[in-house]
Amino acid sequence: MCGIVGYVGNRNVQEVLLNGLRRLEYRGYDSAGIAAFHKGTLTIVRTEGKIKELEKKLQVGSFDGKVGIGHTRWATHGRPSEANAHPHFYGNVAVVHNGIIENYRALKAMLEEKDHTFNSETDTEVISHLIHQFISEGCGFETAVQEALKLLEGSYAVGVVCEQFPNVLIAARKESPMIIGKGDGECFIASDIAAILHYTKTVLFLEDGDIGVCSAGDVKIATLEGEAIRREPKTISWNPVMAEKEGFKHFMLKEIFEQPRALTDTIRSRIEKTRGEVVLDQSNLSQEVFDRIENICIVGCGTSWHAGLLGKFMIEALCSLPVEVDLGSEFRYRDPLVSDKTLMIFISQSGETADTLAALREGKRKGARLISVCNVMDSSLVRESEGVIYTRSGPEIGVASTKAFTCQVVVLYLFALYCARMRNRLSSQELSTLIDDLVKVPHQVEEILAQENLIKEIGKRYVGFNNFLYLGRGINYPIALEGALKLKEISYIHAEGYPAGEMKHGPIALIDENTPTVVLLTKGRAYEKMLGNIEEIKARDGKVIAFTSFHDPRLQEEVDEVITIPSSNAYLTSILLTIPLQLFAYHVAVMRGTDVDQPRNLAKSVTVE
Ligand code: AGP
Repeated sequence: MCGIVGYVGNRNVQEVLLNGLRRLEYRGYDSAGIAAFHKGTLTIVRTEGKIKELEKKLQVGSFDGKVGIGHTRWATHGRPSEANAHPHFYGNVAVVHNGIIENYRALKAMLEEKDHTFNSETDTEVISHLIHQFISEGCGFETAVQEALKLLEGSYAVGVVCEQFPNVLIAARKESPMIIGKGDGECFIASDIAAILHYTKTVLFLEDGDIGVCSAGDVKIATLEGEAIRREPKTISWNPVMAEKEGFKHFMLKEIFEQPRALTDTIRSRIEKTRGEVVLDQSNLSQEVFDRIENICIVGCGTSWHAGLLGKFMIEALCSLPVEVDLGSEFRYRDPLVSDKTLMIFISQSGETADTLAALREGKRKGARLISVCNVMDSSLVRESEGVIYTRSGPEIGVASTKAFTCQVVVLYLFALYCARMRNRLSSQELSTLIDDLVKVPHQVEEILAQENLIKEIGKRYVGFNNFLYLGRGINYPIALEGALKLKEISYIHAEGYPAGEMKHGPIALIDENTPTVVLLTKGRAYEKMLGNIEEIKARDGKVIAFTSFHDPRLQEEVDEVITIPSSNAYLTSILLTIPLQLFAYHVAVMRGTDVDQPRNLAKSVTVE
């Protein structure tokens, strides 16, 4: 997720922009830049790295104009570099953008036909070219922006300035947040309230399809068709610290609620609707790779390892390829049977986990093909892999991984579909059905998030227990592991994930009124056996909290708590089951008073072995 700030008014533009970008640093970014006017000329200054690098390139008084835009970039298309940093510009137009333009390649080709030349690897740059093209064809500034945005498929929050209109700042949004702040004779735009809250508390929230034209004292909002719209100004009561979390109490809760957007962004531009195919650009996974490989080995740590376990179910079932899943900390010590006929998939949110990197180097030494599933562009893991499939979940600040995990599972699902097609294991119709299921997931997640209060109430009833079992069968077993990890790492309660079938082989000795059990149930061969597990637990006075994907009166009678979620196919229901487990762990931890975002003894990225 990138950060955007813009200003039009009589303050020192450079100061307003840099202050705003500094307030957005918490989101994580890899490059930054600003565009403003000096002696009537639109001037752009950008840098790879942090804002302090940008400040080194700016002298005091670099800009004397009234208008400017600034950006902190979290790379999604194009590696971190000055050339890929925003603002992007062409002719006399500069643009900052947050979101993903799905059809940027086609637009770029169309513009190159008109002799446009491009200087970056980004999707964003096409926006500046389009606006410039429409202005050069005689459109006014607002109309040129409207016409350009109509051509975009995907998501955007944009800030635009143009040298011919040195007193105008334009903002627009579609599926990516953008606000307009109003001051006395001045206007601000931002992707985050945090960027402008210290200048104004009066904010207009743009809606999808809105375009806002800002001058020093006035804001005009319209549709892309030019129809005037009124957006009521809101007064923001947050303090700056609350604003960084956009009103959520913790980054973890904010990131749990960002999952619909993160999942949408991860899916976006990877499904060719017309052809009904999966596209995994940057993965470097050619037909030759799939013709050659005989097995797959997935490696990760912690939550990323849990994602790998889910990937095994998907890939083996859909691609008929044997898949082994190993912990990064174990892989290199067992002389693994890996060869040049092995495709290795390394899963890591940070891309800096030492054990996962060590496993990659061992796989490389043995001649395996190496791809990574990662959330941080150009991280060590990505640089040492032969291909990458990014999770695009945006910066994950909370130590407990939430949105990155569900995006990892989506990426593995997309990989399984892609691999199955490359190995002729899926018909077009089967693929289309599986894609349709995937596209529904972000909305289904929203439905589950709406149950937060119910889950919180259940958490209240169990906050005093110090031991939990989490049980699942089949593909729900890795979710039981993930749910247990979430609870233990942020609440410090001992929670253990177990295959439900293993209960009689030991864990049932733990069951009594002091050890609640979380059970995960989905329709399938193992459902009746799960009911048997529940009866065994209840017979020993154990409490049972059931998370399930369908209504069953028997279940309602048997257990102490039930959270019902929407259902999908077996692979994707695993994602849906994860959401309430995240919320349960979060609320129990909050009630126990732990540091949810920075739990004791833990780091966001374990860069040491
Ligand atoms: C998950 O909530 C934990 N923060 C931890 O298990 C994490 O998944 C693990 O350290 C791997 O990190 P990575 O995905 O950045 O490699």
